[in-house]
Parts: sequence; C-alpha cells; structure tokens
Amino acid sequence: MLADGKILSNLTANQTIHQRFGGVVPELASRDHEKNIVPVVHEALKAAGVDKRQLNAIAFTRGPGLIGSLLVGTSFAKSMALTLNVPIIEVNHMQAHVLAHFIDDPKPAMPFICLTVSGGHTQLVLTSLADADTNVATTETDRKIQMKIIGETFDDAAGEAFDKTAKILGLPYPGGPLIDQYAREGNPLAFNFPHPKIDGLNFSFSGLKTAILYFVRDHIKHDPDFVKKNLNDICASVQHTIVTILLTKLKKAAEEFQINEIAIAGGVSANSGLRKAFVEMGKKENWNTYIPDFQYCTDNAAMIAIAAWFKYLNKDFATQDITPLARYSL
Ligand code: KG4
Ligand code: ZN
Repeated sequence: MLADGKILSNLTANQTIHQRFGGVVPELASRDHEKNIVPVVHEALKAAGVDKRQLNAIAFTRGPGLIGSLLVGTSFAKSMALTLNVPIIEVNHMQAHVLAHFIDDPKPAMPFICLTVSGGHTQLVLTSLADADTNVATTETDRKIQMKIIGETFDDAAGEAFDKTAKILGLPYPGGPLIDQYAREGNPLAFNFPHPKIDGLNFSFSGLKTAILYFVRDHIKHDPDFVKKNLNDICASVQHTIVTILLTKLKKAAEEFQINEIAIAGGVSANSGLRKAFVEMGKKENWNTYIPDFQYCTDNAAMIAIAAWFKYLNKDFATQDITPLARYSL
C-alpha cells in the first residue's frame, strides 16, 4: 500500500511448499497465489489503515514471471478495480527491482547504472530520465523514466548460480541465503573456480555451475564427506567467484558510460558478500553507491507500488483487456 510516494504497508505471502521439491513448481505457485491473494490484500489494507473504498488505483505485476501466478494477480487487480471503479497500473517486475531505490533516501541521481541480480535475471541497466516532451509540462515527476539493458546474462542468472550450487551441495531451495550464511565462516580463496570469458558487459554462469558439479564429483570420489567437511570454504569460494564476476562487469560499465551513480537490486543484492564488496569497490572507484533495504531486495509489493506511483503521476493507466506476459523486456 502506498500513498503520496510513501509506503504504508508491505506484505509478502511466503511459499514454503517449494522447498520439498528443490525449486519452484509453477502449478503449486499459482494455486498458492490464488489461495493467498485475498487475505494478503486484506492484511495490507488493514496494516496501512486504509479502507478499500479510499483506493485511487490498483497496480499489478504484468511480467516477466510464471504465467500462472501473473494471471492470478492480473485478474484479481482487474476485478477489484472494476468493482471500485478505479484505474489499473501494470508494472514490469524488472523495472520495479530498479525503482525500489526510490522508496527510501538517499535516492540515486539520474542517470545511474543498476546491476539487477535475481533468480531469473542478471542485468546491467542504464536508467535515465527521458527527454522532456515539449508539448507537456516538464517537471521532474512528469518526465518518464527510461531504462536500457547494457549487459545481461546469456544463460543462467546469478540467483540461479547460487541456487544450483546449493542443490549440488545438498542444501534446500532457495539456496542463495544459505550459501551466504555458510560463506561467512569460510575462506573465499580456499578453492578456485573459473571465470567466464565473455566480451563486453554480458555475463554467463552456466560454466560455473558445471565446474562446481565436476569439482564436487571429483572430490567425493576420494572422500565421501568432502562437502560436509568443507561446506563453509566451498560456499565462501563460490560466492566470492560470483561476486567478482558481477562486480568486474559493473566496474566496466561504470567506466564505459562514465557514470558514478551506481546501484544494485534484486534478490541477490541481499547477499552480504556482494553488499560488502560493492561498497568497498564504490569507495575505491569514487562511486555513490545505493543498496536497497533488505526487505526491498527480494520480491516485494513495495517495489511494485513505487514503480506504479511514477506511472500514476503520468496517468499511465492500463485498460481492462491487458494480459500478463511471461517474458516482458524492460
Ligand atoms: O528477486 P528475487 O526475490 O526473485 C526473482 O525475481 O527471481 O530473487 C530471488 C533470488 C533467488 O535465486 C535467491 O536464492 C537469491 O535471490 N537470494 C540470494 C540471497 N537472498 C536471496 N542469493 C544470495 N545471497 C542471498 N542472501
Ligand atoms: Zn524479482
């Protein structure tokens, strides 16, 4: 729930059901969504102290994501808006991760570069204000925010690299936060993993996953307890590798575009190793660095609300015939 650009409540219904299957099962995700959406909206209104009849607009995630879950949210938003006779606002999930930086102060100045790292995406996003349209008012809020992908992954996302490594190590889903936890006690230089040789500002993480699979397989041939005995060091070394790959490209992007307003966003930006290394690099490179509050890194309603707020100011509303998109570029 958001009013005048300020978050009033931010609720999430966590889905623990997927842990049993070692990954998100799309069918189960949409069924859980269907079950949760009414009580969660009710709780969010209650927590904000707002009556549904006071709402001026309803925002929803159009994509990218799992189509079943997106359909639940889209259909619910449309029906509720019809009943209350208010407009709907469609939000791009990956834009919302970047715009999470506009929830709290300090906010990045435009233009800025954001490294968005989540379970499905790894993107370097150049974010700026669109050229002012001479026919309309040109206050800051009237100008549209534009985003351009200047680098992205060719295969796995950074979050997938964490989650797949965790699976190889026998850890439950989602493994990212667990690797983070074990890594705190480990030596990041204990083991060496290969860095991909990808030109420009793009990424690749599938080779790393394969290297870790072979590394574990070779070691347990000699010692079946190898993973258990070295879990902290393996996690610290894998995390160090992923963080180094990410930050090397972020630095390259900052240099190429001559920008020193730099942000990170998405689920993996909750990683303590990435946060620490990012701040250190920022100090060395003279960047102004921006990291979202923990609750705004992994998927959350507040980032959808703030993205919708900018569209609301532009009266950028969707129509009732809108459909969700599993793939939806920035
Ligand atoms: O943005 P997000 O919540 O959902 C997607 O849009 O995908 O990101 C989820 C991803 C998962 O891969 C999860 O393992 C990872 O973020 N993640 C982390 C941490 N917290 C969440 N990865 C590493 N360290 C963390 N602390
Ligand atoms: Zn996300």
